[in-house]
Amino acid sequence: MQDLDTELYLEALDQERERHPELASFIDDGWIAEVLHVVKSGKEATVLCCKAGSRVESRCVAAKIYRSRNNRVFRNDAVYQEGRVVLDRRARRAYEKKSRAGRQVQEGGWIYHEWDALKLLHAAGADVPAPFTQAGNVLLMEYVGEPDDPATPLYKVSLQAGEAHELFHTVMRNIKLYLAHDRIHSDLSAYNILYWEGRLKIIDFPQAVDPRSNPNALALLQRDVENVCAYFAKWGVQSDPHRITRGLWGRFLRGAL
Ligand SMILES: Nc1ncnc2c1ncn2[C@@H]1O[C@H](COP(=O)(O)OP(=O)(O)OP(=O)(O)O)[C@@H](O)[C@H]1O
Ligand SMILES: [Mg+2]
Repeated sequence: MQDLDTELYLEALDQERERHPELASFIDDGWIAEVLHVVKSGKEATVLCCKAGSRVESRCVAAKIYRSRNNRVFRNDAVYQEGRVVLDRRARRAYEKKSRAGRQVQEGGWIYHEWDALKLLHAAGADVPAPFTQAGNVLLMEYVGEPDDPATPLYKVSLQAGEAHELFHTVMRNIKLYLAHDRIHSDLSAYNILYWEGRLKIIDFPQAVDPRSNPNALALLQRDVENVCAYFAKWGVQSDPHRITRGLWGRFLRGAL
């Protein structure tokens, strides 16, 4: 027989399933116990802070729920999509025809890209949230911060004297590590870097490109580096984004990262 605590717990899970049907499978599988609150409803996704389920060791899980395509302001796809291999022939035809199925393929593509990049880069030792699982339009990952005190995007942070240099080098180490693993973030700025207790986590990878196949790779790398340099210049870090980009790109081409 189940004890009262277990019964109450299971009842609470049932209620959560009803309140958040899009998360039901993650509740069933023990990833999520309860949705606590919305961290942010962004351009392309809503991020929820959830109490972790029994299979997760940390207290919380972040659930990033992508909007359906019709409801979202979509980025300029082509720049990021060029050079991507689009699934099988049927999926490719649907994508090219921009049919409903094609849009689903494409939408699956963005979230899958984020999941794929997070897995690869987290395993490589990058400062990104640990990815837990992905299905449909939902991606679950490590939650950065405390439940009632989420990590702050870097653009809102006043850095302490001396801290800026170290954090600048952390971001540059990440950019280089991504490139060494054939990825460029491609939307990197102080908006997509979270700050928590003096440390950084870089987020938001759906548009990450593969520099081996994307013809816009160098321009995207340059923009990422410029954004980061411009933010840190405000905190007294002098840098030359063109030189940094040239150096990184040259080493990438020589296979010397
Ligand atoms: N793992 C996480 N832990 C804590 N907070 C997070 C996490 N991931 C995202 N967030 C919060 O949710 C916000 C939106 O996340 P993200 O940038 O991935 O989505 P987006 O749809 O691109 O949003 P935006 O349009 O604001 O860039 C972040 O700025 C951050 O405040
Ligand atoms: Mg973002």
